[in-house]
Parts: sequence; structure tokens; C-alpha cells
Amino acid sequence: MLKRHGSFTFIPVDIAKEFIEDCGRQLERDYPGLTVEPYGGLYMDGVRHIAARPEAKMLLFLGSSFSNIPLVEQLKMMVDIRMRLSEQDRLVLGLDMNTDREALSRAYDDQWSPWLRDNFICRLNQDFGGDMKKGKFEYTFDFVENPADGDTPSYIQLSLRSVGNQQVHFEKLSLDLDFQDGERIYLAEGMNYSCKWNLKQLRRLAERSGFTVEAHWANNENTYCIVCFAPAETIASSA
Ligand SMILES: C[S@@+](CC[C@H](N)C(=O)[O-])C[C@H]1O[C@@H](n2cnc3c(N)ncnc32)[C@H](O)[C@@H]1O
Repeated sequence: MLKRHGSFTFIPVDIAKEFIEDCGRQLERDYPGLTVEPYGGLYMDGVRHIAARPEAKMLLFLGSSFSNIPLVEQLKMMVDIRMRLSEQDRLVLGLDMNTDREALSRAYDDQWSPWLRDNFICRLNQDFGGDMKKGKFEYTFDFVENPADGDTPSYIQLSLRSVGNQQVHFEKLSLDLDFQDGERIYLAEGMNYSCKWNLKQLRRLAERSGFTVEAHWANNENTYCIVCFAPAETIASSA
């Protein structure tokens, strides 16, 4: 972009404000012509902050974070972003495409399962004053591939499954939960976590939120894709 435009402004958005401020200073030293104006806050507040500027904009979410947003929220977020963009602006998302069960199992299950189980239980106990016992829950990983509606991407579901009937108390919530043997507690907001997309689903997402897929670039293995969305003339759907 510097080669093409000579100069431009980069506005990183992250709740870790000090971190992006440090990185911003380093980037400005490394790339003469670049201006970095970090915005410390939530993604959508950052989008609103950036959208208020008059220049042509490219919004980038390269780190697959978009795929961890609950499914219903994804569409709302796309529509919200679309309403704030002008014709010359672009939205670029980095998205996972890998649906290889073995690879996914290696990434989300196998080696990680004891660690993830303990981490989740520890966090729930700590935040809500719970008395969940590590030995009384099993970590489970499911991959839901291409749900039948055709529009929804494949996704991962992580849960803890109760070993036997038991009651768990969460002091800070004044809540007792009765678990039947095998009953689960899901570990992500909404039903999805780490969505895996195909092009049809991406085009449908674009169509429903008022974008078109202008370009896309996948890696050789077809496991990761960068997608450039351009504003369409009309917004087809109600989110
Ligand atoms: C996996 S990386 C995010 C990658 C990158 N933002 C993307 O998708 O292009 C995790 C970073 O996101 C930040 N983060 C997570 N949720 C956020 C939110 N709702 N608003 C702003 N920053 C967030 C964390 O502070 C952390 O530095």
C-alpha cells in the first residue's frame, strides 16, 4: 500500500490498547510514510470510529476472529459494517476453510483436551464461585459439517460432559445446576465456534448483508482464505 499510495493511515483496533500503541510506534519507525493511529476498544466501536473518517477505507479482520462471533451476530455485524461503508470502501476477512476432521481433531481435541477442560473449569469456578470438579467432567469436541440449511458454515462445538448425575453450585450466581449423566455445558457463546467456510456460504453471507465477494485468495492447501467484500448496491436481507 505504501508503494502504491506513498502514505496511508493504519488504525489498529484492539482492547489491548497499550500493546497496539507500542506496535504502532514500531511500525511507524519501520515504514516511513505510514501513520498509525491506534484505537483501544471493542471491534465495533473501532469500526464506528473509523467509519466516521472521510477517506476511502479498507477494514481488515485477518485473524479469523470473525469466525468466533456467534452466527446470528455475524450477519448483524456484517450489515452494521455495510451500513457504514461507502462504495469505494472494502471489507477484507481472513477465514478458515479447513474441514479435514483429522486436522481439526488435532487442533481442538487430542493433545489439548485435558488442558482445555481444566482451563474452562478453572475459569468458571473462579468467575462464578463454582465448585465444578475436574474429574467429574469430560471434554468433548464435535465438528458440525455443512449444516443442512446450506447457508451456515461448518463449525466446532466444545463442551464439558457430566460424568454421572451431579449438582454444581455457583456461589456468585446463587445458582445450583443439576446435571444428568452425559448432559453437557457448551463452551462458546451461541452454537458455533471457529467456523469453517466454503465459497458458497461466503457468497450467501455477502448477499444477505449487502456485499458481493469481489475477490478471494486461498492458500495451496485450501485451508485458509482471504476474502474481499465490496458493498453491493442494495442490501438483500433483513438480519
Ligand atoms: C485472535 S487475535 C485477533 C485477531 C485479529 N483482530 C483479526 O481477527 O484480524 C486476539 C486479539 O483480539 C483482541 N480482541 C478480542 N476480542 C476483541 C473485541 N471484541 N474487540 C477488540 N479486541 C478484541 C484481543 O485483545 C487479542 O489481542
